[in-house]
Amino acid sequence: MSTSASNTPDIIELRNIACDVASQAGKYVLEESKNQVLHETKSSASDLVTEIDKHTEALIVDLVRSQRPDDSFLGEEGTSQKGSSDVLWVIDPIDGTTNFVHEHPGFGVSIAAKLDDVIVAGAVADPKHGELFDAAIGNGARCNGELIRIERSPKLETALVATGFSYEASERKTQAKILTYLLPAIADIRRMGSAAIDLCSVAMGRVDAFYETGLNEWDIAAGSLIASEAGAKVLTIKSFVGETLHVAVNTCIESEFLNLLHSAMEKSSRDI
Ligand code: IPD
Ligand code: CA
Ligand code: CA
Repeated sequence: MSTSASNTPDIIELRNIACDVASQAGKYVLEESKNQVLHETKSSASDLVTEIDKHTEALIVDLVRSQRPDDSFLGEEGTSQKGSSDVLWVIDPIDGTTNFVHEHPGFGVSIAAKLDDVIVAGAVADPKHGELFDAAIGNGARCNGELIRIERSPKLETALVATGFSYEASERKTQAKILTYLLPAIADIRRMGSAAIDLCSVAMGRVDAFYETGLNEWDIAAGSLIASEAGAKVLTIKSFVGETLHVAVNTCIESEFLNLLHSAMEKSSRDI
């Protein structure tokens, strides 16, 4: 492990690489979304992958590696490469593949840099909406280069909450049950189809909270930093009623929302 100051990478430089590469990969994904794309299934009939997911991951790795040849890489579509530096790039080439396949808006490219196990920089490109989100730890979050900071002051009953559902049928049943306890206490639910963009929506104040169980590191690495640098409380709770739960929430409703979620998850686990 390199610890000397001269070997410590510049976090702003990592963020700039993430932005540049996410933006290039986003353009490629948007162009390809206009073509009929064949897909295969992965863990279940609803878990889709296309050639474009795989090509985009390869493109991202090549582009980052051309600037940072010694780094490590982890990608959803199978990339797992160990380099000699302390930086690991965590990549979701298309977050929201179901939307991408259906030509539905709401797919993005997510790239994060982890330094000694801490996410220090990241970018999420939403090419269909022309938005590029980024963050560098301790340096704030941005949308298209402008600093963003959550300004809304919701109450629990006025909160708009985003979530997502697993590709596993049995897990979905539990997730749907949780909603029956949550929905009466909040303003409404949104299921947009990309956890990475959902987290950026928390950062923008477009939703007041996001939660989902069973996500992978590549889904949330960049978006979590973007949400937390914009002022959200971001938590990964390893065992929340037996589930790994990811939450990003406007701090105005943090404790009420977590209590509500806890009770909804507890009640639903008793029901099923
Ligand atoms: C999925 C999206 C979706 C979430 C799923 C993820 P993918 O990622 O983020 O919103 O609900 O849990 O797996 O498969 O489109 O990369
Ligand atoms: Ca994903
Ligand atoms: Ca993906």
